[in-house]
Amino acid sequence: MPRVLLLECSPNDLASPGGQLAREMARRIHPKAEVIVRNLVREPLPPICADYAGAVVGHADRADEHFVLSEQLIGELERSHYLIISTPMHNYMVPAALKLWLDYVVRIRRTFEIHNGQRVGLLEDRPTFVVLSSGGHYLGAKAKQMDFLSPYLRHVLGIIGLHHVEYLHLQGLADGEEAVNAALQQARERLSFNPVFAPEPFPDVQL
Ligand SMILES: Cc1cc2nc3c(=O)[nH]c(=O)nc-3n(C[C@H](O)[C@H](O)[C@H](O)COP(=O)(O)O)c2cc1C
Repeated sequence: MPRVLLLECSPNDLASPGGQLAREMARRIHPKAEVIVRNLVREPLPPICADYAGAVVGHADRADEHFVLSEQLIGELERSHYLIISTPMHNYMVPAALKLWLDYVVRIRRTFEIHNGQRVGLLEDRPTFVVLSSGGHYLGAKAKQMDFLSPYLRHVLGIIGLHHVEYLHLQGLADGEEAVNAALQQARERLSFNPVFAPEPFPDVQL
């Protein structure tokens, strides 16, 4: 059975529209898929400490609890066939909770290495979907702000070998319920044409 790693990064927990969509997506991949949910807000990762920083570059005890945690997080990712990340935009960037996950998972000589000055990802590529929720717009005619999040996340996931990354942009969510429903509808429409989520269309999609 397929295994899906679902990273939830919103402080709004079950009320997050992006979180709801991401959970639908995980179920839709396969009815019997094993979904490993890591809610990075409800169960926050500890800040990067000196022991972990030392362990990463090989100067400290690899039995350090933070190093063990890093291995656990990387293991969850390695065992998953699909990765789904549901994240809000916080100050044009990934929220701190997701940044910490990246700091535990993007590790030299473990998930990437450097060959002739080039970084080479050590993880097998797998379909990765990012549901990105924002109060305002950064794409299209209504765009009024920068987006450092999607290029950054694409870059850093690529470093560890995840290149097959698709974004679902839920923009303008601060504009009220109608805007939220329209953004969700648009995203579901797009997903209903994606073979990963076939055969049935998402609820509310009129084909
Ligand atoms: C600390 C913080 C920073 C935010 N920064 C941005 C931002 O830079 N751009 C934006 O469009 N929305 C920003 N927002 C709004 C959220 O992205 C928006 O409310 C989004 O819908 C939250 O999605 P969620 O319910 O999945 O967490 C910010 C919200 C918070 C709490």
